[in-house]
Amino acid sequence: MLEIYALQQNEILNDEKFNSLLPYISTQKKARINRYIQRSAAQQTLISDLLLRSIIHDKLSMKNSDIHFGQNEFGKPYLLGKDNFYFNLSHSGDWVVCAISDSVVGIDVEKIKPTDYNISKRFFSQDEHEYLTCQKGKQRLDTFYDLWTLKESFIKAVGKGLHMSLRDFSIIIYYDGFIFLKHQIENYLFNFKQFTIDIRYKLSVCLGSEFKGEELSVISMTDFLNSIEEKKGM
Ligand SMILES: CC(C)(COP(=O)(O)OP(=O)(O)OC[C@H]1O[C@@H](n2cnc3c(N)ncnc32)[C@H](O)[C@@H]1OP(=O)(O)O)[C@@H](O)C(=O)NCCC(=O)NCCS
Repeated sequence: MLEIYALQQNEILNDEKFNSLLPYISTQKKARINRYIQRSAAQQTLISDLLLRSIIHDKLSMKNSDIHFGQNEFGKPYLLGKDNFYFNLSHSGDWVVCAISDSVVGIDVEKIKPTDYNISKRFFSQDEHEYLTCQKGKQRLDTFYDLWTLKESFIKAVGKGLHMSLRDFSIIIYYDGFIFLKHQIENYLFNFKQFTIDIRYKLSVCLGSEFKGEELSVISMTDFLNSIEEKKGM
């Protein structure tokens, strides 16, 4: 089972609206949000936390006040008290995405921006760097972000983030679109899939089980805020 929720934040909330949403989240998250200088970053964190809480409320019939998160030693959050409920969040530009599953999952969304390909030597394996170098023009930029988000989704599924060496594994993208992981040391059993929510972004998911019957829901900010309003006291 895999469900992906993609929320497009196409407005910056006014202070009144922003502050009205803060009581739904934890004290620690609020403290983090207060430390952000950029309002857009603060809003991304607030909205992604709220999106996750709202999904948990709907799927697991949990009251918001009973929703508490722990973190592994590398910062990957998990839901306390629910061992078979897996989720992962990502945000970039306008988009906040959340994957939920009954197996380990990692998700990454990135906005496609012009890039310096020299960084691929640092972050990508030799195989990936060579594959990227063979691509031309727009295809090369697309491939860069395909590899980037697929690699991120993997290290987020494992839960170690950048504590894992990015050059110890390669993402191989076959002509038919099949995506394969080649790890130098470990034998990881993960599957990958990419989804399109916006042609200006790349979205990749890494799953600890087979992809079958996954669902993608795209949610507008207006609908989301209305649903939070309706769930007052959720
Ligand atoms: C922290 C990291 C896990 C993801 O960072 P990111 O891509 O900047 O951020 P995303 O928006 O995709 O994901 C952030 C969310 O991942 C989750 N997360 C945090 N640590 C995590 C971990 N160790 N594993 C999985 N998920 C994690 C949190 O829910 C976080 O949300 P929050 O910031 O609202 O709390 C880590 O991989 C990182 O620092 N990446 C930097 C990017 C980079 O250099 N990538 C090289 C790719 S080739």
